[in-house]
Amino acid sequence: MVGSTQIPGYYSVLGFDREPFATSPDPDFFYHTREHDRALTNLLIELRLRRGLSVIFGDVGTGKTTLSRKLLHELNKRGDMIFHMILNPSFSSEAQFLSSLVRNFNIDWPEDVDIKNSDIMELRDTIEKFLIQKTLEENRTIILIVDEAQKLDLSTLETLRVLLNFETNAHKLIQLVLLGQLELYSKVVHMSNFMDRISFKFTLNPLDVQETSELIDFRIAKAGYKGHKKIFLGEAVSEIYNYTKGYPRKINMLCHKILKELVIQNQEIADRALVQEIIAKEQQWLSATNDKQLETLET
Ligand SMILES: Nc1ncnc2c1ncn2[C@@H]1O[C@H](COP(=O)(O)OP(=O)(O)OP(=O)(O)O)[C@@H](O)[C@H]1O
Ligand SMILES: [Mg+2]
Repeated sequence: MVGSTQIPGYYSVLGFDREPFATSPDPDFFYHTREHDRALTNLLIELRLRRGLSVIFGDVGTGKTTLSRKLLHELNKRGDMIFHMILNPSFSSEAQFLSSLVRNFNIDWPEDVDIKNSDIMELRDTIEKFLIQKTLEENRTIILIVDEAQKLDLSTLETLRVLLNFETNAHKLIQLVLLGQLELYSKVVHMSNFMDRISFKFTLNPLDVQETSELIDFRIAKAGYKGHKKIFLGEAVSEIYNYTKGYPRKINMLCHKILKELVIQNQEIADRALVQEIIAKEQQWLSATNDKQLETLET
């Protein structure tokens, strides 16, 4: 009967408690690579010192969202931080953006006033009062984290810059952490008044071969591997690195495929040949897809 067979996760067949190469940005699976660690430590210092604006740039799949989840995890441990994370920053107007901040930071707003129709000055004033009260009277740090910040339009970037003008002699009243793909850089590089305000900027680079190997080992251990054999031989890791160029998402995807193939082939160890086989299949698929696209273009 369809659906009656329990298919155990491939991870349990191989001796794991959990899936080692899931693609979610789980802070539990965060490996402190040199790059990620530097970024995280610096962000925490900037936030503690309330220096205002930090920006993390990084190519697709370098670990920006994972880093932001880890940052939230760290902030959660502290009682003096109030934070909100925007995952998909597309706003139709400044008023919509500001009113989303009022809602998400639970800022007091008169019940009888419709937030949708309120004007920008009123929203800005309300936010400023909130920031002053929380920072100066309650000694809390207010943090806004924006993931996918390359999607911010110029007018929202300008609004963020205006928010950074709320400050005392000693520090900024709102702390902004932007994480975005490299297009973000091309957007802000010409906004000199925005660039000037960046207190910490950092570009996340892919891992080197050593860290690729460490990341794989770390995730295997985190997933509760109980086997005694090393699943990925050194030669397999070299192949993984050559193909993925150290991009964490690509490493994860490929390792997932390798483990699945081990289960299918009823094997326990991944060697160079197996990794090459999977990469070859992947490349075949990619070129078939490209050909199809070309065909479509020709018709
Ligand atoms: N430091 C790390 N430790 C462990 N796994 C990581 C690390 N960094 C990234 N990964 C893994 O790599 C994958 C991609 O990471 P993530 O989604 O954070 O990338 P991204 O830079 O946000 O990508 P995009 O530009 O597409 O938004 C995720 O599956 C994540 O678990
Ligand atoms: Mg991301």
